Amino acid sequence: MTWQATILTLFPGMFPGPLGQSLAGRALEDGLWSLDLRDLREYGLGRHRTVDDTPFGGGAGMVMRPDVVATAIRDVAAAGRPVIYPTPRGRLLRQDDVRRLTSGPGIVVLCGRYEGVDERVLEECAVEQVSIGDYVLSGGEMAALVLLDSCVRLIPGVMGSDASGTEESFSDGLLEYPHYTKPASWEGRDVPDILLSGHHAAIASWRQTESETATRVRRPDLWAAYRRRTGQDTSDPVS
Ligand code: ADE
Repeated sequence: MTWQATILTLFPGMFPGPLGQSLAGRALEDGLWSLDLRDLREYGLGRHRTVDDTPFGGGAGMVMRPDVVATAIRDVAAAGRPVIYPTPRGRLLRQDDVRRLTSGPGIVVLCGRYEGVDERVLEECAVEQVSIGDYVLSGGEMAALVLLDSCVRLIPGVMGSDASGTEESFSDGLLEYPHYTKPASWEGRDVPDILLSGHHAAIASWRQTESETATRVRRPDLWAAYRRRTGQDTSDPVS
């Protein structure tokens, strides 16, 4: 069955954007996934198709109305598909989440603009709030594109027979090892000798060490989790 993405947005022109190119674009053409775009403005109220209003309690910006957003969510018959709201207030998106979302029938993504969406509709419609990083974008659309890209590339058939889905950053909780190609010597920098040796076991072991070092140095948070999971951390668990 085709993996289905429904996007609720005030800016449908931003899609498929980069997802119409390359692997994701080809997969879209081949029907490996489908993109259902809904303009939130069409659910707006009155002659002006109003979707937002001023925040209770005062403050800057506008907030998207719960009634408008709920009508849109209910109209797309999410049946079995989680509704995701990209927001910097959300839980940080991780590769485990991406795997879970790709293994289901698809997702509905609610893109917010302005100051965000009324909290009540997020509760009432069991919306999953997800952040793609600790920085602020001007709306949810770019985050939706990032989320979709990460999901689509895991759909069976999208990456072909490529092994890179299982041998990449996060597949085992570590960052990936570094890559090299020709020329073997470039501007005085040589490819590590071991990679030219033909000793597959030694190469695998070198790559494992490089992965561990990069993770320990660059991402102590991932390194601590990896050590706990692989039983190498013998310190007291944090309560
Ligand atoms: N919308 C605005 N900023 C965002 C972020 N960092 N992650 C997800 N959605 C967002």
